[in-house]
Amino acid sequence: MRVTFLGHAGVWLQAGDHAVVIDPFLTSNPVARHKADDVRVGWVLVTHGHSDHVEDAVAIARRNRATIIGPYDLIVTLAGEGYATHGMGHGGKYRFPFGTVRCTLAFHGSGAAGALPCGFVFELDGKKVYHAGDTALFSDMKLLNGVIERDIDLAFLPIGDNFTMGVDDAVVAVDWIRPKIVVPIHYGTFPPIQADPEEFRRKVERAVPGTRVIVLSPGEGTEL
Ligand code: NI
Ligand code: MN
Repeated sequence: MRVTFLGHAGVWLQAGDHAVVIDPFLTSNPVARHKADDVRVGWVLVTHGHSDHVEDAVAIARRNRATIIGPYDLIVTLAGEGYATHGMGHGGKYRFPFGTVRCTLAFHGSGAAGALPCGFVFELDGKKVYHAGDTALFSDMKLLNGVIERDIDLAFLPIGDNFTMGVDDAVVAVDWIRPKIVVPIHYGTFPPIQADPEEFRRKVERAVPGTRVIVLSPGEGTEL
């Protein structure tokens, strides 16, 4: 699976016939190296309605004739011509052609009236991926390690603080979730969310030695 960090919370995953982008924010993103036109996908996952997560979702979906997946009350506001939408509710799972997606809890705002934010646990290329979205640390993350989900291969967790978990809270999340690999996101884009990913790496390596931290710069990719 090819993992490309688009900057902020944006992640583009490509595996064989399937490609997924989560929270594409490129056009107004001061650190992005990609343009929305660069992203080729069949599926666009959005965690909530803040513009730093959905800004390019509709444009990417329309150009690729893709399907936008996200929390139902947000998704109904994103529907349009030339692409599909699929709304979900917290705790629900649905089997898509690329794998099963679970809509998970997230504690944050939403940007769309009445819509709640979420995260996702989903399968792609035989791996299980967790993208937390924007969220506080919350103890139900423990359910992802052996109760409602298990064996998370790859987790994307915010570390930027102010709007979401900061470094220390994210280290606790890693301890609870126990992913094989964790990639820090949602930091460094704007002045209020400056965080040091190397501090996160050091603290995870000390507290959760079984988890590997991969720090990606905006635009950088890796093969997993
Ligand atoms: Ni947000
Ligand atoms: Mn955000």
